[in-house]
Amino acid sequence: MALKFQKLHPTFVAEAGDVDLRTVHDRTTLDEIRAGMDEYAILVFHDQPFTDEEQIAFAQRLDGALHTRTGSAAIGANRLADEAVSDISNVGDDGALLKPGDRRRAYVLGNRLWHTDASFVDPPGRYSMLSAKVIPSVPADTEYADMRTAYDTLPAEMKAQLEDLRAHHSVTHSRWMLGFEFSEAEHARLPGAVHPVVRTLPRSGRKSLYVAAHVSRIIDWPIPEGRLLIHELMEHATRPERVYRHRWRVGDLVIWDNRATMHRACPFDDQRHKRELRRVTTLDVPDAVAV
Ligand code: OGA
Ligand code: MN
Repeated sequence: MALKFQKLHPTFVAEAGDVDLRTVHDRTTLDEIRAGMDEYAILVFHDQPFTDEEQIAFAQRLDGALHTRTGSAAIGANRLADEAVSDISNVGDDGALLKPGDRRRAYVLGNRLWHTDASFVDPPGRYSMLSAKVIPSVPADTEYADMRTAYDTLPAEMKAQLEDLRAHHSVTHSRWMLGFEFSEAEHARLPGAVHPVVRTLPRSGRKSLYVAAHVSRIIDWPIPEGRLLIHELMEHATRPERVYRHRWRVGDLVIWDNRATMHRACPFDDQRHKRELRRVTTLDVPDAVAV
């Protein structure tokens, strides 16, 4: 099967042509999707009516091992059966809107900060696959930033300065910035992870900036200088010309490469409108699965 991709932004993101991903098991098509991910870093598929089980199975076919040590699992929030499925929604077990003061609501609101999924574990997240179930009538979009172009457009002196830097990523840090409090036991479950600030993507050889709201510090740097550098890099990466905004339709599946992009949820009135999506994220372990 020859999949067609249509570019949605000058430097990244493409929309895939007609395909039902539930039925994709053959190596050729899976390889075409992987090649599309290498080229565009984000692929948009419309009309994908996944159940959670089908979404998990597809993620495993495409990219292997799944991320299950989610931050929300550490705070005991998952209303879904499988830890590999993150509940990206503003409703509780009873299907009603989560109220202000509810920890699960506060946790999901953290997605409004620019971030990469599962950078606070090692191995970190590779592909995230987000499936839209309930989408409000008002805009409730997701924005994505192109971190390969962000790297490419840095001045040479900055590239040299970043070469061997490593950063500590912690989900307690990014949530703490929003006033979220963690118990000692939760802190112990979420120690964070250290990753290079510049990553080289193995298949394309392209370099990418790997920074996010989760970064608490640059290793071996004083805290303020490290945080200021991250702030500066994130501002550079999220300039309007490097950002794609996705307006969701029910049934969309968007796959993004967390090594090559950052993303954030755009604000909407979450006390009036229900919004429900499900995410499965794979782990950045060497060797994509062979089919
Ligand atoms: C996610 C996420 C943003 C959104 O699913 O990882 O950050 O718009 N989602 O819901
Ligand atoms: Mn996310």
